[in-house]
Amino acid sequence: MNTLSPADIMSVSPIIPVIAIDDADHAVDLAHALMDGGIKVLEITLRTPAALASIKKISAAIPDAVVGAGTVLTTDDLSNVIDAGASFAISPGSTPKLLKTAQAEKFPLLPGVATASEIMQGMDLGYNHFKLFPAVTAGGVGALKSFSGPFPQARFCPTGGISMTNMNEFLTLENVICVGGSWIAPQALVQTGNFAEITHITAKSLKELK
Ligand code: 3PG
Repeated sequence: MNTLSPADIMSVSPIIPVIAIDDADHAVDLAHALMDGGIKVLEITLRTPAALASIKKISAAIPDAVVGAGTVLTTDDLSNVIDAGASFAISPGSTPKLLKTAQAEKFPLLPGVATASEIMQGMDLGYNHFKLFPAVTAGGVGALKSFSGPFPQARFCPTGGISMTNMNEFLTLENVICVGGSWIAPQALVQTGNFAEITHITAKSLKELK
């Protein structure tokens, strides 16, 4: 049984790699590449047909990896990722149906929010941990500072427009636990199987953390 809370998920690593994987045969090598670089949490987005098989392969082969699913939009997506062995789910947005179902399943979900009303809706349903998406477009550091006034208990994983160059501006905020981004494992490198470069980017990103 999955006993991790959303807070636990956000605390595994200050950076959650957002991954789109086209070939499930690359999944385990990719997870090893990230772990060799120092990150053991992965968000495999449901944007490719290989996503569920990739989650299955990583969770079966590498018990130490914390593999979750991204782009979880519907309750069907949620049951599929639970069945595939995901440890958590991340959504770009929030629907009451998705939030209530994850709660009923006691499955850790980071719902996406971009506005005060969405945070209030999430808090009403018992959520305090959110993905801010699309982080930079939705107001970035300024929005997060503004949210800390009315929502001191809310914690965020800003994602969307984050990279090695701006991650520290976000990570130094009190209401930010981690950031997410695709820069760690760019789809082109995954596609071509350039895992050494992914390990290099991962290690370099961790080294740049303040
Ligand atoms: C996501 O789905 O979380 C984003 O596409 C990741 O955004 P990025 O590509 O700007 O990191």
